[in-house]
Amino acid sequence: MLVAMTAAAAEPDGFGLREGRQQRELENYAAGLLGKEDALLFPTCTMANLVAVMAQISSGDAIVADSRSHCVLSEAGGISALAGGMVIGLEGDRGRLPLQRVVALLQAEEDAQRPPVRLLVLETTHNRSGGLPLPLDHIREAGKIASRHGAGLHIDGARFFNAASAIGISPAEMAAPATSIAISLNKGLGAPNGALLVGTADLIDRALRLRQRLGGGLRPTSAVAAAGLVALQTMLPQLEVDHHHATELASLLRREGFRVHPEGGGTNILLVDLELPEEGVAAFVEGVARRGVLVLPFEPGGVRLCLHCGIVADALPDVVAAFLASRGEVEKGSSKQ
Ligand SMILES: Cc1ncc(COP(=O)(O)O)c(C=O)c1O
Repeated sequence: MLVAMTAAAAEPDGFGLREGRQQRELENYAAGLLGKEDALLFPTCTMANLVAVMAQISSGDAIVADSRSHCVLSEAGGISALAGGMVIGLEGDRGRLPLQRVVALLQAEEDAQRPPVRLLVLETTHNRSGGLPLPLDHIREAGKIASRHGAGLHIDGARFFNAASAIGISPAEMAAPATSIAISLNKGLGAPNGALLVGTADLIDRALRLRQRLGGGLRPTSAVAAAGLVALQTMLPQLEVDHHHATELASLLRREGFRVHPEGGGTNILLVDLELPEEGVAAFVEGVARRGVLVLPFEPGGVRLCLHCGIVADALPDVVAAFLASRGEVEKGSSKQ
């Protein structure tokens, strides 16, 4: 990846918003992989999600999403502040939307008092439930419901390929019910940064202007796009390895008495419930970091771990050792108080 980036950075790049050779190659490759007409490079998946919404709703329209999804909790209210959308956040089940309620909301459009629902958003894998992939049936059903009512279906697929790999289907099969998909090139795929929005040629045309409006037109794109292309072309088989490591690590940690989620069917994310107060979690995170293991404080009382190509099988016992040592330190610290 670094070799490809270095070579690309030395090449002259176009000045136009879609002139870069590597950028076009990456966008075409991503569109082909997901079985859609076109794709557009973005600096972040947050911006790709936001532009997907802006391109598919008008100000005052509603979008329906799981209340624990990234676009509701972690994107600084962009959907309302910048897309003018009203988010109807529904309590989902591991990221699955309660589709009966969604149908009721879509049908309510005939009542002129209600904001019309123009877009459903699904997130797969679902970060806050510990990286669980949505079942294909659920995505298909949501797609059917949306299209029957003239609404779009956007998939926040920051970890789209982890989801496809975990349920054993092709990315194109999983993308088929959606009108737009945002994918991340960093995270599990290992590129330094970058994301793509994938959809119809018409949607991507609109997205290009919206991306520019938000200041997201990177120039030059050659090095970032070259890394993204290597990520998509070479890293997908690695995801299964990461999932296997996550399962291994979960069982090693459970053996030491840690409470680890999800119980099964997960991908590269593990949530460890430490049952500690905030300051205890902070001390634990600092303790494992001192031992070379980086984890994120997550949900009350716990931490999130992400497995990726940089974590090899031999490192798993070291992670467990760091967890044990830090837990010991935190327990000792709290018994002194
Ligand atoms: C599910 C999901 N969507 C979107 C994003 C946003 O990605 P970015 O950091 O590239 O904006 C994240 C980031 O963690 C995520 O977990």
